[in-house]
Amino acid sequence: MKATYVFVCVGLALLPGTICQSPAESEAYTDCTDGYEWDEQTQLCRDINECETILEACRGEMKCFNHYGGYLCLPRSSYVITAPETASQSEPNVPVPVPENEAFNPCPLGYRAQGESCVDIDECELNMHDCQPSQECINTVGTFTCQCPDGYSKIGIECVDIDECRYRYCQHRCVNVPGSFSCECEPGFQLAGNNRSCVDVNECEMGAPCQQRCYNSYGTFLCRCDQGYDLGPDGYSCNDINECSYSSILCQYQCVNEPGKFSCVCPEGYELLGSRLCQDVNECETGSHQCGEGQVCVNIHGGHQCVSANRCQEPYIQVSENRCICPVVKPECRDLPFSIVHRYMSITSERSVPSDIFQIQATSVYPGAYNSFRIRSGDQNEEFYIRQINNISAMLVLARTVTGPKEYVLDLEMQSVNPLMNYQTSSVLRLAVYIGPHVF
Ligand SMILES: *[C@@H]1O[C@H](CO)[C@@H](O)[C@H](O)[C@H]1NC(C)=O
Ligand SMILES: *[C@@H]1O[C@H](CO)[C@@H](O)[C@H](O)[C@H]1NC(C)=O
Repeated sequence: MKATYVFVCVGLALLPGTICQSPAESEAYTDCTDGYEWDEQTQLCRDINECETILEACRGEMKCFNHYGGYLCLPRSSYVITAPETASQSEPNVPVPVPENEAFNPCPLGYRAQGESCVDIDECELNMHDCQPSQECINTVGTFTCQCPDGYSKIGIECVDIDECRYRYCQHRCVNVPGSFSCECEPGFQLAGNNRSCVDVNECEMGAPCQQRCYNSYGTFLCRCDQGYDLGPDGYSCNDINECSYSSILCQYQCVNEPGKFSCVCPEGYELLGSRLCQDVNECETGSHQCGEGQVCVNIHGGHQCVSANRCQEPYIQVSENRCICPVVKPECRDLPFSIVHRYMSITSERSVPSDIFQIQATSVYPGAYNSFRIRSGDQNEEFYIRQINNISAMLVLARTVTGPKEYVLDLEMQSVNPLMNYQTSSVLRLAVYIGPHVF
């Protein structure tokens, strides 16, 4: 740095108004030290403003400051610090140099003279600051500061973004952005009112896509389905379970799948017993039969039969509702069973065999008599046989599996022999066996 200091008198540098005259010859010969010239008018040495009189007194970036007895070349940003005194006794009429900038300022740096006092310079207002464009200039007494915007900190003269995320402001995730930051939450959470904490989102109340039931849980939610539905692979949808496809024993007859459930149905002539079993409807009792006058209703599995009330054929005569007898007075009755009793029974299809299905019991036994039983009708005897139990009873046994619907009429004959009285008689039980259409 090139600076030329011209001191008027040692020890008084930079104080204005110092005049040094040649000590001995003040009356006869007047001379001024370097930087001063004689002013005839005031009879005083007057400072030369070298900044004006010397061409290019300061070079380059240097600024010329006139000074008593000389001048200063200082950087353009420099200010000359001077004592706040305004004028010297020697120069009573010289006005204090009031800025503009270039002018000499007798006040401390950051102040300017105003009247007889120094007042603060608003460097911000006067654009005498070196704040960055991004910085805000704040005037202070005697100086100024460059303030960084919120979210920035000053390092040197630069404003550097503060990484707020380093300070763990956010509960979940922090996103630093220039001058600020924001908090983000993991999926299933949302930012709380303080913009930092994360609170669980109740997805169920916010339209979670569960088709049926929604259960909120911390950070997520779960879909569940009503009974009878399965959660789909997407986790949201509910698909009807076809219960009928799971098991064939859900229903005795037929399973009908319905949304979320199933039901059992029964074939015609049956009704549901409970939820899965089918039981025969007794049309004869419910009155839903079609039997007319002179007919007797016989309930069978899956339906009913209407049989004639008058079942006795010549030469038999009816003696009670289901009993016909052949009167002994009639000659043709000699070789016929004395009585025919009509009975009806109904069994289910596919019965396991052998199966006892009907027991015949002699009603009246003479002492010493014994009875034998047989199936009198000659046809269709593959399926049935008689097993005699004792003198007075026998069992009709189903020997083969029979698939309904089917009907058999069996004449079961009981012969009673009384050897003492040399008496023999025969009676027939005419049994109609209906095989139902189903196994129930
Ligand atoms: C949270 O952020 C919103 C939007 O940016 C703002 O309006 C609100 O004042 C902030 N709340 C708090 C507590 O900072
Ligand atoms: C059964 O017949 C036998 C003879 O065959 C006889 O001894 C017995 O007493 C009879 N039983 C009945 C209960 O009639």
